[in-house]
Amino acid sequence: MNRSTQTYSAQWRRSHDDRDAFWTAAADRIDWAAPPSRALDHDGNSWSWFPDGALNMSFNALDRHVAAGRGEQTALIFDSAMTGTTSSLTYRELRDRTARFAGVLRQGGVGRGDRVIIYMPMIPEAVIAMLACARLGAVHSVVFGGFAANELATRISDAGATAIVTASGGLEPGKIIDYLPILDEAIGLCAAPIRSVIVKARPGFPSRIDSRVDSTAIQWIDWDQAVAGAEDAEPVIVAATDPLYVLYTSGTTGNPKGVVRDTGGYAVALAWSMENIYGIGQGDVFWTASDVGWVVGHSYIVYGPLLAGATTVLYEGKPVGTPDAGAFWRVIAEHGVKALFTAPTAIRAIRRVDPELRLLEEHDTSSLRALFLAGERLDPETYEWVSAGLGIPTIDHWWQTETGWAISANPLGHGLLPIKPGSSTLPMVGYDVAILDGKGRPVPAGDDGNIALRLPLPPGTLSGVWGQPSKLEEAYLSAFPGFYATGDSGHIDDDGYLFVMGRTDDVINVAGHRLSTGALEEALIHHHDVAECAVVGVRDDLKGHRAMGFVTLKAGASTPEDVLTDELVALVRKQIGPVAAFRDVVVMDRLPKTRSGKILRKTLRQIIDGDPYKVPATIEDATVLDPIIALAERLRAVNADHVLA
Ligand code: COA
Ligand code: AMP
Repeated sequence: MNRSTQTYSAQWRRSHDDRDAFWTAAADRIDWAAPPSRALDHDGNSWSWFPDGALNMSFNALDRHVAAGRGEQTALIFDSAMTGTTSSLTYRELRDRTARFAGVLRQGGVGRGDRVIIYMPMIPEAVIAMLACARLGAVHSVVFGGFAANELATRISDAGATAIVTASGGLEPGKIIDYLPILDEAIGLCAAPIRSVIVKARPGFPSRIDSRVDSTAIQWIDWDQAVAGAEDAEPVIVAATDPLYVLYTSGTTGNPKGVVRDTGGYAVALAWSMENIYGIGQGDVFWTASDVGWVVGHSYIVYGPLLAGATTVLYEGKPVGTPDAGAFWRVIAEHGVKALFTAPTAIRAIRRVDPELRLLEEHDTSSLRALFLAGERLDPETYEWVSAGLGIPTIDHWWQTETGWAISANPLGHGLLPIKPGSSTLPMVGYDVAILDGKGRPVPAGDDGNIALRLPLPPGTLSGVWGQPSKLEEAYLSAFPGFYATGDSGHIDDDGYLFVMGRTDDVINVAGHRLSTGALEEALIHHHDVAECAVVGVRDDLKGHRAMGFVTLKAGASTPEDVLTDELVALVRKQIGPVAAFRDVVVMDRLPKTRSGKILRKTLRQIIDGDPYKVPATIEDATVLDPIIALAERLRAVNADHVLA
């Protein structure tokens, strides 16, 4: 065992054996209005971190750095590859703009515990809106821009939001995303007590607030005008256990789950992770190329780097095509980025366009010390390519919306441990990872099984499911008593290294975006000609997974197959959103089922992926699989990703 592994393992052990001392010391990284007297209250399936602590997240992310004399340090760099512009805000400027916008929200009646939906593109105002909610003790729920009105409406309703913050538009390559019609449609679909909608009019996008005639009682407010007339709001002290945000994520059903994040535990966990995992401290430039709509954006674009007093980069653009596959290297060089965090998909996209990494040579990326990847499995081939190409540690780390920070990682800041391609290294402090069989029994080292986390979960992880007090237990804690079921499968080797192989449920990961095949099926079944359907996530060279829909038609259905495909693709775009990137439809006479009527989704996926498969003895009629086997052979023959589209 090398020295870093030894010292890290000792820390990990202490985080369990001497839990209170370890986490109380970790809590010293945070400024508390009321310091916690103990780290944890835990009783069976219920626990809470820093139960008697009180703090304000926005104060910790902003004010305390200004008070410590670092107000002139850059807090946020906004780099828009979409508009070719860059701007920045110091800690003082970001604090002032946050305090002022919090004043706008407060004037509109938003207070502690109220829910605010943030539906915005990657612009500084999205970060300001999040921090302003945190300043007031209000609970934000950010909705990713690539979701359709229907998904937005579900989130507004479930959160019971009273205010919405949005922008007049977002930019995607070759198109403008007009947020207001999507929002209008969503508001029409939902039942929430919305009082106000605040719209940031982006330069170059038509502001449509002035001319707005609304039949509802909702007040439409222009961000800039409101800010000009508002007063600053001071941080509101909240309990450590107060919710900071709700972030919706896909589960096994069509209904997204609102993951609730507490305030104190999250602040402590993020501060520990910035130092020990990412090796980032005051003044370092940290760039997470994701979106504030995802958990990665919450933790490592906004809260983590600002808690650490670092400079965070907010990037509006793609890894390729904005304008080229050198975009990431340009941003690193221009802003002196020390560590980059993105999804493996982004690296595969760059590799596809620039396999020799020629564009890397055009930029001075010597500031970059490490690349962190998460969001989906990092295949060893992509790992080898990028780590050899960049010549710096490439660190795979595994986590989920629910956990808020890495379950397993290579703690670079603490001291790099030996890297094993395909592994996300060791469990992080506070996480006790077990591999269990279907009955909850531990499996021998090296065997695959369900990855489960022994309770209690460490600070920073979910404290519940919004609006459903029993859901945490039902969805996560009931499968394996005493454990949280991650929904992922994998194994642990003799050195304790964790290998995460895939999901055991109906969740798929398309370009690092988490989707539920159940939700896609619910969309497809809306089509008047569709009798039955099954959606599976098949392997995709670029995006990791892509969704493939298998449908059977009602008797008498007459829509030609190509028209049907177009209509189904449009239906998914309308119900779920473009982010689903749904294109592949297979029309079948019958779906493969067991005699008890269970659709053999796993077998469908294995056949298409070319993996070994066993036809269950209980199959109703094995010949139903013949057209799928033929299709899989055709797909492999042309070796194309989207021959069906
Ligand atoms: N608002 C509105 N629409 C959005 C959007 C947003 N914020 N983000 C994506 N979309 C749309 C895209 O425009 C596209 O629409 P289209 O079908 O009309 O072209 C669709 O959703 C799919 O987008 P995307 O997943 O980005 O696929 P792509 O083919 O355009 O690009 C990659 C492929 C790999 C370059 C891109 O997925 C990427 O950058 N991935 C990085 C992964 C990432 O950041 N994951 C976050 C978790 S860490
Ligand atoms: P999300 O909640 O969107 O962050 O998605 C979480 C899921 O993404 C996990 O349950 C895994 O299935 C997958 N995932 C995230 N990071 C990794 C990783 N490093 N390796 C393998 N799978 C990952």
